[in-house]
Amino acid sequence: TGEVDDQVDKAQILVASNRGPVSFSVDDDGSLRFRRGGGGLVSGLSSVAGDADTLWVCAALSDADRKAVSESPEGRIDQAGFDLGGARVRMIDIPAATFANAYNSVANSTLWFVHHMLYDTPNKPLFDAGFRTEWDDYRAYNAAFAEALVTGAADGAKVAVQDYHLALVPRMMRGRRPDLRIAHFSHTPWAPPEYFRMLPADIGRELLEGMLGADHVGFLSRRWADAFLRCCETFLRADVNWDNRTVDCGGRIVRVGVHGLGADAEGLRARAAAEDVAERRAALREMVGDRRLILRVDRTELSKNIVRGLAAYRELLVKRPEWRERVTHLAFAYPSRGDVPEYRAYTESVRRLAEEINAEFGTDDWTPVVLEVNDDYARSLASYQIADVLLVNPIRDGMNLVAKEGPVLSQEGCALVLSTEAGAADDLGRDAILVNPYDVSETAEALHTALSMPDAERRERCTRLAEAAVALPPQRWFADQLRALV
Ligand code: F6P
Repeated sequence: TGEVDDQVDKAQILVASNRGPVSFSVDDDGSLRFRRGGGGLVSGLSSVAGDADTLWVCAALSDADRKAVSESPEGRIDQAGFDLGGARVRMIDIPAATFANAYNSVANSTLWFVHHMLYDTPNKPLFDAGFRTEWDDYRAYNAAFAEALVTGAADGAKVAVQDYHLALVPRMMRGRRPDLRIAHFSHTPWAPPEYFRMLPADIGRELLEGMLGADHVGFLSRRWADAFLRCCETFLRADVNWDNRTVDCGGRIVRVGVHGLGADAEGLRARAAAEDVAERRAALREMVGDRRLILRVDRTELSKNIVRGLAAYRELLVKRPEWRERVTHLAFAYPSRGDVPEYRAYTESVRRLAEEINAEFGTDDWTPVVLEVNDDYARSLASYQIADVLLVNPIRDGMNLVAKEGPVLSQEGCALVLSTEAGAADDLGRDAILVNPYDVSETAEALHTALSMPDAERRERCTRLAEAAVALPPQRWFADQLRALV
């Protein structure tokens, strides 16, 4: 589990996120195995992680993480032996019941639903006394992060707080450490006031005021930043300067910025060159044969709109029967948030619809939908390399890196069918085929257009998509967050 060091050094740069850059599992012999996390945040940190003054604060998410924490004084996981490029990690062991209420109930079942506008409103949301108890735990969870950051930060340190899990942290810290420079960054969309107002008024205000404890509040798209500013005007009656994009908090000026995030071209290409990716590519090619390949790669996440994506594929096979037996839809829908009942039900709907399509159209030689639910990153990369069409149709998405990673790794050029409601549409709208994610017929027709696109055009568009996709590498995105604090 790495070396144990009971000296808690003060850091100049701190990152806080619910899910951290490392996770643990317990081997058969009871020993702990360390795994480096992936994703934009981890890649982004590499730009500063060489600096030993960086401390990353995250939550222990599993029993194995908790075991690792219990074996490391202060929950500090030392860099020794772990390829984090110099960053130190501190995992916080939050009591399991508190964590479950904060993460599953408030963060994932409430705030995520609000910002992605996912509620089935005749039934949910419903804010009762039980929710107030969960909200208290969300506060306690935020307070535990604030405590770890306040005690770990050097004088005048910069703190980059990530996402909706930690909306209250900036204000909690500011009261205790006015010397710190604090950024909050949202990886999700932000709800428009008309939707945000579903939250109890005091809780909505507490969230906004919590984030405005920061010096700088960042979003992935101008659309989400504007929605946040509108919420500040509507619910706090705050003085918003739309020219400078600032909020006046009683004389303290908070800046609201847009920092897009692109694919990590270098990291992706290096990983995709590995042998395990080549093996999977060969297996996929054999499975697909000379058929065209429509690919999607998602967590099984309500906002990803997998069911309407399958419905669009079904409509394609009905309206454009010439594609039957000539196309395979490979749908990777990896497990996510299984503790939330809606996610379990959604996973079931995805599976059912895929089976129905196969029963309706499948033949002895052709399986129209190949649904894979076991997460295999190497296989995802291999499939990006060979897909003809990439379908990314979320209901709402902060950015969506699949839309950017696919074109970067494509070998023959892939056409991108992309939801207008993904932040990525800001950057890729010119060469993607944009669709309204609720319009199944439009999506079906877009799949047809993508499949029918002449090879040369598909390659040209894909080259331009890849260029746009890597314009904002994660390292730059993270450095921008810190620079915004100067
Ligand atoms: O990007 C939004 C986000 O919630 C991240 O904060 C998170 O790491 C990711 O989606 C996956 O969600 P989870 O950590 O709940 O599996």
